[in-house]
Amino acid sequence: MSRKRSVVDADLDGRRVLVRVDFNVPVKDGVVTDDTRIRASVPTIELVLERGGRVILLSHLGRPAGIGYEEPFSTKPCADRLSQLIDAPVRYVRDVCGKEAREAADALEPGQVLMLENLRFDPREKKNDPEFAAELAAMGDVYVDDAFGVSHRAHASVVGVPRLLPSYAGLLMAKEVETITGMLEDPARPFVAVLGGSKVSDKIGVIDNLMTKADTILIGGGMCFTFLKAQGHGVGTSLLENDWVQRAAEMLDKAAGCGCRLVLPVDYVVADRFAPDARTEVVAADAIPADMMGLDVGPRTVSAYAEAIAGARSVFWNGPMGVFEMPAFEAGTRGVAQAIADNEEAESIVGGGDSGAAVNQFGLADRMTFVSTGGGASMKLVEGESLPGVEAIPDAR
Ligand code: 3PG
Repeated sequence: MSRKRSVVDADLDGRRVLVRVDFNVPVKDGVVTDDTRIRASVPTIELVLERGGRVILLSHLGRPAGIGYEEPFSTKPCADRLSQLIDAPVRYVRDVCGKEAREAADALEPGQVLMLENLRFDPREKKNDPEFAAELAAMGDVYVDDAFGVSHRAHASVVGVPRLLPSYAGLLMAKEVETITGMLEDPARPFVAVLGGSKVSDKIGVIDNLMTKADTILIGGGMCFTFLKAQGHGVGTSLLENDWVQRAAEMLDKAAGCGCRLVLPVDYVVADRFAPDARTEVVAADAIPADMMGLDVGPRTVSAYAEAIAGARSVFWNGPMGVFEMPAFEAGTRGVAQAIADNEEAESIVGGGDSGAAVNQFGLADRMTFVSTGGGASMKLVEGESLPGVEAIPDAR
């Protein structure tokens, strides 16, 4: 993928700079409970401020109904959190692009930051409405896209505004794209991918593409059971996508044909019900009792996966191995995370979403080379798809 025009090369002095960020963060009682995505965009915001720009922040948060202001989805908690992270005044206005927002943007001084309200309060954002894009663009002179996490959505603030203003990639955006595409294009070998999550149907594209790049793919999570069924084994009451069994069988054949080792668990932690205090036991992969469900990979699988990871020089991980939110079923995910952290010789990339949350939960995020801030966006990139938000930024000359 060609390198995009970077904010580093933009003339920002005195300019009103619309910075699209992905501050889609968890909020509880008006307080941000995980500020990873906010911290990730601080370097771009600080760069614009240092260069004499006035920062106008655009973000969505959650999936509001698109009928105007809804407090649980307000960006105000993000403005509050950001003001604690940077050494500059952060104003907030309860408006997206109406009169109040325009006046606040006009009143902004160089070195100041303004956070606008949730873009999705206006239904025109998700419809990529050109008039909405024009109203946003009218508040700025320059557009900087640092919202990697939403770059797979062709929304007005992502693809409409950059058509109307000189546009640049922010530092986070550039780092995300370069790191993930770099791993796919030229990985240090052996390249081991660890894929989990509940559904095969969500990961088909990722597995298909990684099969042509990785030396080994270790599979975990709920999607295992569709593969297990494809091998002719019983899966008890485990999660199963019956419509995908045939496709899973084809993938196992395809992997064998393209020299990629597609590895499935050899044992599972099974439970009599989906509950933290369920009765559990460890069983071999071909011996799941008919009345039990697999909720984590078993200890022999963790050892085998840890050994494969220890020998890798590139590791990509996306998707938990089990229901790591419940202590009884977290060992598989924790074991894989620990093995990746312990391999200091490998470049390790964690593909956002649940696996990003898992490395945070286990306190291992700092021991990974890179944890993506994009769940869906990083998966699209790993699938080999182009991202509308990235395409919208002109290439560097
Ligand atoms: C994400 O959290 O993956 C991004 O912020 C995109 O959010 P969305 O899936 O609601 O578009």
